[in-house]
Amino acid sequence: MRILSGIQPSGTPHLGNYFGMMKPAIELQEKGEAFYFIADLHALTTVQDAATLRANSRELAVDFLACGLDPARAVFFRQSDVPAVTELAWILSTVTPMGLLERCHSFKDKTARGFAASHGLFAYPVLMAADILIYDSDLVPVGRDQKQHLEVTRDIAGKINETFGETFKLPEPSIREETAIVPGLDGAKMSKSYGNTIEIFAPENVLKKKVMGIKTDSTPVESPKPTENSAILGLYKLVASPEDYQAMEADFLQGGVGYGDLKKRLFAGIWEYFSVHRARRAEILADTGLVDRVLEEGAQKARHVSDSVMARVRKAVGL
Ligand code: ADP
Ligand code: TRP
Repeated sequence: MRILSGIQPSGTPHLGNYFGMMKPAIELQEKGEAFYFIADLHALTTVQDAATLRANSRELAVDFLACGLDPARAVFFRQSDVPAVTELAWILSTVTPMGLLERCHSFKDKTARGFAASHGLFAYPVLMAADILIYDSDLVPVGRDQKQHLEVTRDIAGKINETFGETFKLPEPSIREETAIVPGLDGAKMSKSYGNTIEIFAPENVLKKKVMGIKTDSTPVESPKPTENSAILGLYKLVASPEDYQAMEADFLQGGVGYGDLKKRLFAGIWEYFSVHRARRAEILADTGLVDRVLEEGAQKARHVSDSVMARVRKAVGL
């Protein structure tokens, strides 16, 4: 089974990225042949500064490795190191109905947030379909917000098969329901674009400040506190043991513990959870050349697969 996923280097990786995408992807690397990549071509639709994009890509590579991506098990590479993916995107675009892309939420969301309505942003799902199909992927672990893109991928693959004969297998999404939406500092979905993120590798004082800044209501210390949609509980559940989580939930329900104390416990929980990752990150940063080596080897392995799929595609469509 081939497992594939990508993540855009569009900012510093946060807990939403970790629990929604990176952790499930890392766990899946045990279950099959994993291909994970840094979607720098996709990030170019919103990050249009060379130094920033380069720095983000590097940081993402370091952080993903620090979180446990194992280059001995998973093929880890940069999307742009496999240029054939843009060729495939073009081929796919010739059978992709405009209406299919017009229905995609992400284009509407991003233009509503002020990003220029470029062709690249509009065609984003086609490039994503190419990412998936060029490696004959079976399973694609993503957050729930990417579900529609997986549906588009399956539609496009079906169109190619219908038009040119059986060429692609249809990939399945893998979406973890329990961590489908990680809450941010304001209780809404954690996202770079909402400015409510907690970065995985934030320094201790920054992390503490962020956690202490989580938005809460004005329930007095002694009173029971609402557990529904609580960002504190939602985040604590991800990092604490079941017993510690239940203890915090009980404190919410009984009252008598203030939000300040609850946040301190959450901070300690997050800091502890990532201690192993932080140590690994320091080792990675100390080994100059490691990241370049990993990505170069990954690119070679990825191109090996994409070359053979592209030969099949070109033959099927008459190029
Ligand atoms: P952002 O919303 O911060 O821009 P991205 O859209 O780049 O994050 O998401 C990268 C990956 O992380 C995707 O697979 C996405 O589903 C996942 N992800 C991002 N934020 C969350 C979240 N709050 N909860 C769960 N998964 C998330
Ligand atoms: N669109 C994904 C995101 O924003 C990133 C991505 C690009 C991706 N290509 C992919 C994810 C292929 C899975 C498979 O998070």
